[in-house]
Amino acid sequence: MGALPTNTVIAVIGAGTMGAGIAQVAAKAGHSVLLYDAVAGAAQQGIERTAAGLQKLVQRNKISSADCEALLSRMQPCDAIEDLAPAKLVIEAIVERLEVKQQLFSQLENICSADTIFASNTSSISITAIGAALSRPQHLLGMHFFNPAPVMKLVEVISGVATDAGIAQQLFDTAAAWGKKPVLARSTPGFIVNRVARPFYAEALRVLEEGGADVATIDAIVRESGGFRMGPFELMDLIGHDVNYAVTNSVFDAYFQDPRFKPSLLQQELVNAGYLGRKSGRGFYHYGDTAEQSAS
Ligand code: NAI
Repeated sequence: MGALPTNTVIAVIGAGTMGAGIAQVAAKAGHSVLLYDAVAGAAQQGIERTAAGLQKLVQRNKISSADCEALLSRMQPCDAIEDLAPAKLVIEAIVERLEVKQQLFSQLENICSADTIFASNTSSISITAIGAALSRPQHLLGMHFFNPAPVMKLVEVISGVATDAGIAQQLFDTAAAWGKKPVLARSTPGFIVNRVARPFYAEALRVLEEGGADVATIDAIVRESGGFRMGPFELMDLIGHDVNYAVTNSVFDAYFQDPRFKPSLLQQELVNAGYLGRKSGRGFYHYGDTAEQSAS
């Protein structure tokens, strides 16, 4: 079937940490992209954040200002979900909750044409379970980008039980055409990366809770001795604690509450406090205009 042609209109729903970046990736590949968020003004703000990020690349001569302008001209904020009707691929990057995602895709089945492909950027929720609420579950897949979406190459293309194999291959080819390194996976809890990564976060949180070492020390060891780009606490702050905690809960429940995946009370308290990481200005570290500093 091959990749979706570049004249295919793409919609991205959710203009938070991931959605705006995914929209940028599709627009860079030449697609017209419609960006919608339930919060009024959020799509416009997402595009403004993208514009600010691209401006920095222009200043560093990484892209030309003409390419930057052309890319931005292909990103359009939408005020109403009905405006997404022309899209042939809709990528959802909203809150990590099964019933909210089911409700969104059900609504979209009545707005978009019957051949529209629906993709969820979910980190952990069963594609089979999301699809169970739809009348065309064969058109639903996972298209799981990594943070930050414009930089990270990997994309997991995930099939649920009912997903059409040809559409999965088409999405795989599309991700490759967008300059990504896609991988095909079946819908298992946490898929590949988030399953493998659970102990990376959980064990670091346990060391901290047991008083073994502080946040900065654990991060430094993992970075400097382990060779990771980021330590576990830096990475959780980048992902967002609300999202990371929701993913752990989802994997924990999906594996019948296997204690290996038990969520952390410490992380739950961060979520309760609204210390969500970079996006709220504070998580394990403080973020501001000045240099970052450890909060622990
Ligand atoms: P976020 O909290 O930064 O942004 C979510 C956006 O969705 C918000 O702007 C919110 O207003 C909007 N939204 C919520 N419910 C909505 C609805 N019903 N309709 C339309 N818009 C709605 O979340 P983030 O981090 O971008 O995560 C989004 C999805 O991507 C989640 O499923 C998450 O698991 C997944 N993901 C997150 C990664 C990360 O590092 N943060 C990495 C890969 C996947």
